[in-house]
Amino acid sequence: MKADEVLIAHHDVLRGLLRQLAETTDGQVADRRRLRDDLLRELEVHTQIEDELFYPAVRDVSPLLSVAHAEHRQIDDQLATVMRTSLDDPEFVTEVRMLESTLRHHTFEEEQRMFPQAHALGEERLEELGRQLQERQDELGRSGAMRLIVRLKRMTLKLV
Ligand SMILES: [Fe+2]
Ligand SMILES: [Fe+2]
Repeated sequence: MKADEVLIAHHDVLRGLLRQLAETTDGQVADRRRLRDDLLRELEVHTQIEDELFYPAVRDVSPLLSVAHAEHRQIDDQLATVMRTSLDDPEFVTEVRMLESTLRHHTFEEEQRMFPQAHALGEERLEELGRQLQERQDELGRSGAMRLIVRLKRMTLKLV
């Protein structure tokens, strides 16, 4: 798969988790916890593979990088707010919907504007980059280090 196809497939995972989370009710605390922690892990992996591999690779062909980096920080801030909101709080879904709206905007901009620009790199380079993204995504998904980062982040955010 080409780089943009790998990232779009992962966007679908993120959008799906946010949609499911937004559809939960205040009584579904266990479901919310599972979906929220899955979202935290997947978002962490996604931001990392883009910041580490994809954005540097498209630096010369896309003028959208600084906006994209700023949006990653905004997503991270809104995720922190979700993490600090109790799972049975009526505000929980409101916070999730705000994060969902920012993420939808960000992924739309990537898919409609940045990824077409990335095609200037050529098909071969996009295939190679796609393999690297997929490998790194799998590695981070499996790694104990990522589980530790997620656990620490969860603890830190809830203590603030
Ligand atoms: Fe992104
Ligand atoms: Fe993305």
